[in-house]
Amino acid sequence: MRPLIIAIDGYSSCGKSTLARQLASALQYKYIDSGAMYRAITYELLRRKINLNDLAAIREVLKDIHLDFKYDPSSGRSVIWLNGENVEQAIRSWEVSEAVSQVAAIPEVREFAVAQQRRMGQQRGIVMDGRDIGTVVFPDADVKIFMTADVKIRAQRRWKELQPLHPEISLAEVEKNLLERDRLDTQRAVSPLRKAADAFVIDNSHLTETQQLQIAMDYVQKIM
Ligand code: C5P
Repeated sequence: MRPLIIAIDGYSSCGKSTLARQLASALQYKYIDSGAMYRAITYELLRRKINLNDLAAIREVLKDIHLDFKYDPSSGRSVIWLNGENVEQAIRSWEVSEAVSQVAAIPEVREFAVAQQRRMGQQRGIVMDGRDIGTVVFPDADVKIFMTADVKIRAQRRWKELQPLHPEISLAEVEKNLLERDRLDTQRAVSPLRKAADAFVIDNSHLTETQQLQIAMDYVQKIM
Protein backbone atom coordinates (compact mmCIF):
# COMPACT_ATOMS: atom_id res chain seq x y z
CA MET A 1 0.00 0.00 0.00
CA ARG A 2 1.23 3.51 -0.76
CA PRO A 3 2.33 5.60 2.22
CA LEU A 4 -0.40 7.66 3.87
CA ILE A 5 -0.91 11.34 4.56
CA ILE A 6 -2.05 11.72 8.17
CA ALA A 7 -3.53 15.06 9.26
CA ILE A 8 -3.89 15.91 12.95
CA ASP A 9 -5.75 19.07 13.95
CA GLY A 10 -7.10 20.43 17.19
CA TYR A 11 -7.02 23.09 19.87
CA SER A 12 -3.88 24.61 21.36
CA SER A 13 -1.82 22.40 23.66
CA CYS A 14 -3.92 19.28 23.49
CA GLY A 15 -1.09 16.93 22.66
CA LYS A 16 -1.25 16.98 18.85
CA SER A 17 2.49 17.07 18.39
CA THR A 18 3.07 14.28 20.89
CA LEU A 19 0.64 12.01 19.07
CA ALA A 20 1.96 13.10 15.66
CA ARG A 21 5.54 12.26 16.67
CA GLN A 22 4.46 8.93 18.13
CA LEU A 23 2.59 7.96 14.95
CA ALA A 24 5.41 9.13 12.67
CA SER A 25 7.91 7.10 14.63
CA ALA A 26 5.70 3.96 14.74
CA LEU A 27 5.05 4.14 10.97
CA GLN A 28 8.51 5.47 10.05
CA TYR A 29 6.93 8.52 8.45
CA LYS A 30 8.10 12.10 8.41
CA TYR A 31 6.67 14.43 11.07
CA ILE A 32 5.95 18.07 10.23
CA ASP A 33 4.89 20.53 12.93
CA SER A 34 3.01 23.16 10.91
CA GLY A 35 2.58 25.35 14.01
CA ALA A 36 6.37 25.65 14.18
CA MET A 37 6.26 27.35 10.77
CA TYR A 38 3.81 30.02 12.00
CA ARG A 39 5.89 30.38 15.15
CA ALA A 40 9.13 30.81 13.17
CA ILE A 41 7.56 33.50 10.97
CA THR A 42 6.28 35.27 14.11
CA TYR A 43 9.70 34.98 15.72
CA GLU A 44 11.35 36.64 12.70
CA LEU A 45 8.75 39.44 12.62
CA LEU A 46 9.22 40.14 16.34
CA ARG A 47 13.00 39.98 16.03
CA ARG A 48 12.87 42.58 13.27
CA LYS A 49 10.42 44.65 15.33
CA ILE A 50 7.86 44.67 12.52
CA ASN A 51 4.47 46.15 13.34
CA LEU A 52 2.09 43.17 13.02
CA ASN A 53 -0.49 45.38 11.34
CA ASP A 54 1.95 46.49 8.62
CA LEU A 55 1.10 44.08 5.80
CA ALA A 56 3.57 45.58 3.33
CA ALA A 57 6.45 45.09 5.76
CA ILE A 58 5.30 41.54 6.54
CA ARG A 59 5.23 40.70 2.82
CA GLU A 60 8.84 41.92 2.50
CA VAL A 61 9.96 39.78 5.44
CA LEU A 62 8.25 36.70 3.96
CA LYS A 63 10.43 37.08 0.85
CA ASP A 64 13.50 36.62 3.07
CA ILE A 65 12.26 33.66 5.08
CA HIS A 66 13.45 30.16 4.34
CA LEU A 67 12.11 27.36 6.55
CA ASP A 68 13.39 23.81 6.78
CA PHE A 69 12.85 20.78 8.99
CA LYS A 70 16.00 18.83 9.81
CA TYR A 71 16.72 15.80 11.93
CA ASP A 72 18.47 16.77 15.15
CA PRO A 73 20.60 13.85 16.36
CA SER A 74 20.91 15.22 19.92
CA SER A 75 17.16 15.12 20.55
CA GLY A 76 16.35 12.45 17.96
CA ARG A 77 13.64 14.78 16.61
CA SER A 78 12.87 16.78 13.52
CA VAL A 79 13.40 20.47 14.34
CA ILE A 80 12.74 23.73 12.50
CA TRP A 81 15.44 25.89 10.93
CA LEU A 82 14.91 29.50 9.93
CA ASN A 83 17.38 30.94 7.42
CA GLY A 84 20.07 28.44 8.42
CA GLU A 85 19.51 28.75 12.19
CA ASN A 86 17.98 26.12 14.47
CA VAL A 87 15.13 28.04 16.14
CA GLU A 88 13.25 25.09 17.65
CA GLN A 89 13.69 26.40 21.22
CA ALA A 90 13.44 30.13 20.46
CA ILE A 91 10.00 29.83 18.81
CA ARG A 92 8.50 28.32 21.99
CA SER A 93 8.94 31.56 23.95
CA TRP A 94 6.01 33.25 25.64
CA GLU A 95 6.38 36.34 23.40
CA VAL A 96 5.93 34.19 20.28
CA SER A 97 2.98 32.31 21.85
CA GLU A 98 1.25 35.60 22.53
CA ALA A 99 1.62 36.93 18.97
CA VAL A 100 1.47 33.81 16.79
CA SER A 101 -2.31 33.53 16.33
CA GLN A 102 -2.50 37.13 15.11
CA VAL A 103 0.25 36.41 12.57
CA ALA A 104 -1.32 33.09 11.53
CA ALA A 105 -4.56 34.90 10.67
CA ILE A 106 -2.84 36.95 7.93
CA PRO A 107 -3.82 35.51 4.52
CA GLU A 108 -0.34 36.09 2.96
CA VAL A 109 1.32 34.28 5.85
CA ARG A 110 -1.01 31.31 5.43
CA GLU A 111 -0.48 31.18 1.67
CA PHE A 112 3.28 31.14 2.24
CA ALA A 113 3.10 28.35 4.84
CA VAL A 114 0.45 26.21 3.11
CA ALA A 115 2.38 26.15 -0.20
CA GLN A 116 5.41 24.73 1.63
CA GLN A 117 3.29 22.27 3.63
CA ARG A 118 1.75 20.88 0.43
CA ARG A 119 5.21 20.49 -1.12
CA MET A 120 6.34 18.56 1.95
CA GLY A 121 3.41 16.19 1.50
CA GLN A 122 4.18 15.35 -2.12
CA GLN A 123 6.23 12.32 -1.17
CA ARG A 124 3.49 11.13 1.23
CA GLY A 125 4.47 9.06 4.28
CA ILE A 126 3.89 12.13 6.42
CA VAL A 127 2.17 13.07 9.68
CA MET A 128 1.41 16.79 9.89
CA ASP A 129 -0.26 18.52 12.80
CA GLY A 130 -1.87 21.96 12.99
CA ARG A 131 -5.25 23.67 12.74
CA ASP A 132 -6.23 23.39 9.06
CA ILE A 133 -4.36 20.31 7.86
CA GLY A 134 -7.38 18.07 7.29
CA THR A 135 -9.61 20.90 6.07
CA VAL A 136 -7.36 23.05 3.84
CA VAL A 137 -3.80 21.78 3.44
CA PHE A 138 -4.67 18.13 2.72
CA PRO A 139 -8.45 17.89 2.34
CA ASP A 140 -7.90 14.44 0.79
CA ALA A 141 -5.66 13.17 3.60
CA ASP A 142 -6.03 9.40 4.11
CA VAL A 143 -6.36 9.79 7.88
CA LYS A 144 -7.76 12.82 9.71
CA ILE A 145 -7.64 13.03 13.47
CA PHE A 146 -9.15 15.87 15.49
CA MET A 147 -7.81 16.19 19.01
CA THR A 148 -9.34 17.89 21.96
CA ALA A 149 -8.97 17.95 25.75
CA ASP A 150 -10.44 19.80 28.71
CA VAL A 151 -9.01 23.34 28.82
CA LYS A 152 -8.02 23.03 32.51
CA ILE A 153 -6.02 19.91 31.73
CA ARG A 154 -4.43 21.52 28.65
CA ALA A 155 -3.42 24.58 30.68
CA GLN A 156 -1.92 22.45 33.43
CA ARG A 157 0.18 20.46 30.92
CA ARG A 158 1.39 23.59 29.10
CA TRP A 159 2.16 25.41 32.38
CA LYS A 160 4.33 22.51 33.52
CA GLU A 161 6.21 22.59 30.20
CA LEU A 162 6.76 26.35 30.48
CA GLN A 163 7.98 26.32 34.09
CA PRO A 164 11.71 25.81 33.43
CA LEU A 165 11.80 28.71 30.93
CA HIS A 166 9.14 31.02 32.37
CA PRO A 167 8.65 30.37 36.12
CA GLU A 168 7.00 33.81 36.41
CA ILE A 169 3.99 32.81 34.29
CA SER A 170 0.95 31.65 36.25
CA LEU A 171 -1.41 28.80 35.42
CA ALA A 172 -4.21 31.36 34.96
CA GLU A 173 -2.16 33.27 32.36
CA VAL A 174 -1.47 30.06 30.47
CA GLU A 175 -5.16 29.17 30.43
CA LYS A 176 -6.00 32.68 29.21
CA ASN A 177 -3.43 32.39 26.39
CA LEU A 178 -4.83 28.99 25.29
CA LEU A 179 -8.40 30.28 25.24
CA GLU A 180 -7.38 33.40 23.35
CA ARG A 181 -5.47 31.38 20.74
CA ASP A 182 -8.44 29.01 20.37
CA ARG A 183 -10.73 32.01 19.94
CA LEU A 184 -8.53 33.61 17.27
CA ASP A 185 -7.92 30.27 15.52
CA THR A 186 -11.61 29.31 15.35
CA GLN A 187 -12.91 32.76 14.44
CA ARG A 188 -10.45 33.96 11.79
CA ALA A 189 -11.73 34.50 8.27
CA VAL A 190 -9.11 32.37 6.49
CA SER A 191 -8.84 28.65 7.26
CA PRO A 192 -10.36 28.74 10.73
CA LEU A 193 -9.81 25.77 13.02
CA ARG A 194 -12.64 23.29 12.33
CA LYS A 195 -13.09 19.59 12.70
CA ALA A 196 -13.19 18.09 9.19
CA ALA A 197 -16.48 16.24 8.65
CA ASP A 198 -14.56 12.97 8.16
CA ALA A 199 -12.15 13.38 11.09
CA PHE A 200 -11.85 10.85 13.90
CA VAL A 201 -12.07 12.61 17.28
CA ILE A 202 -9.75 11.80 20.17
CA ASP A 203 -10.35 13.52 23.53
CA ASN A 204 -7.20 12.82 25.49
CA SER A 205 -8.20 14.58 28.73
CA HIS A 206 -7.93 11.30 30.60
CA LEU A 207 -5.69 9.24 28.33
CA THR A 208 -2.03 8.38 28.79
CA GLU A 209 0.32 8.85 25.83
CA THR A 210 0.39 5.07 25.36
CA GLN A 211 -3.41 4.87 25.31
CA GLN A 212 -3.80 7.71 22.80
CA LEU A 213 -1.22 6.11 20.50
CA GLN A 214 -3.05 2.78 20.70
CA ILE A 215 -6.39 4.39 19.81
CA ALA A 216 -4.86 6.29 16.87
CA MET A 217 -2.92 3.25 15.59
CA ASP A 218 -6.04 1.06 15.71
CA TYR A 219 -7.81 3.68 13.58
CA VAL A 220 -4.89 4.07 11.14
CA GLN A 221 -4.63 0.32 10.72
CA LYS A 222 -8.28 0.08 9.70
CA ILE A 223 -7.52 2.49 6.86
CA MET A 224 -4.18 0.99 5.78
O1 C5P B 1 0.68 24.16 17.15
P1 C5P B 1 1.11 25.44 17.83
O2 C5P B 1 0.28 25.74 19.05
O3 C5P B 1 2.57 25.52 18.09
O4 C5P B 1 0.77 26.56 16.75
C1 C5P B 1 0.99 27.91 17.04
C2 C5P B 1 -0.10 28.75 16.40
O5 C5P B 1 0.02 28.69 14.98
C3 C5P B 1 -1.54 28.34 16.71
O6 C5P B 1 -2.04 28.93 17.89
C4 C5P B 1 -2.28 28.85 15.48
O7 C5P B 1 -2.62 30.21 15.65
C5 C5P B 1 -1.26 28.77 14.37
N1 C5P B 1 -1.43 27.62 13.47
C6 C5P B 1 -2.31 27.75 12.42
N2 C5P B 1 -2.43 26.75 11.50
C7 C5P B 1 -1.72 25.63 11.63
C8 C5P B 1 -0.83 25.46 12.71
C9 C5P B 1 -0.72 26.47 13.63
O8 C5P B 1 -2.98 28.77 12.31
N3 C5P B 1 -1.84 24.68 10.69
